[in-house]
Amino acid sequence: MAPSAQCLLTMTYNPQDHYFKLAKKEGFVARSAYKLDEIQKRWHLIRRGAKVLDLGCAPGSWSQVVLKILGAGGFLRGIDLKPVDGILQKLRAQNAEFMVGDIFAVPIEQYTEAPYDVILSDMAPNTTGIAVTDQTRSEELCMRVVELSDKVLGQSGHLVMKLFMGGGAKNVEIAVKNRFKSHHLFRPKGVRKESSEIYVVGIGKK
Ligand SMILES: C[S@@+](CC[C@H](N)C(=O)[O-])C[C@H]1O[C@@H](n2cnc3c(N)ncnc32)[C@H](O)[C@@H]1O
Repeated sequence: MAPSAQCLLTMTYNPQDHYFKLAKKEGFVARSAYKLDEIQKRWHLIRRGAKVLDLGCAPGSWSQVVLKILGAGGFLRGIDLKPVDGILQKLRAQNAEFMVGDIFAVPIEQYTEAPYDVILSDMAPNTTGIAVTDQTRSEELCMRVVELSDKVLGQSGHLVMKLFMGGGAKNVEIAVKNRFKSHHLFRPKGVRKESSEIYVVGIGKK
């Protein structure tokens, strides 16, 4: 008998894969760290001393990657519906500030370090398992990030954001294309095979 779709998914989905083990070994609070690491190795968007906004930052592995690059200078603001991991809470006193909030509700005045040099968004909606619903919510998050980039990203700044590929993905891509000198759709190696996620990278805000 042929295996069911659910069975196939179980066979391919390994929560403790190579990147999970590597993250544990290297002290990252999530395996997502390696997605940003790959994007950074390719485009070098985050520079030492930069001001970075990390949207959907919890539990905090992207923030860990960013803080290693920034060194003692620069500034990182993280925002998420949930608090970041305790390891990152300790960094509050340094050049990082984490805020619990919904990006649709946080007033612009609270982005106090704007203009930022880089906006990162690894935000994902709470998934329902219904692809079209999840993709639509992901697109809405991306369009909000684009709107924020109009307001708080500095000229020539860069944008990296996660998108679940679906029917409205083209609209997100066009919104980025219109605002940045160049753009790319990129799928890092760390993205799980069964996931529809890609990263939209906008380089050099016009
Ligand atoms: C995949 S996780 C981010 C992982 C993170 N980049 C890391 O490396 O640890 C996605 C996050 O997006 C956040 N999120 C989803 N919708 C949000 C919203 N409207 N405002 C703020 N954060 C949101 C979720 O709470 C969740 O923590």
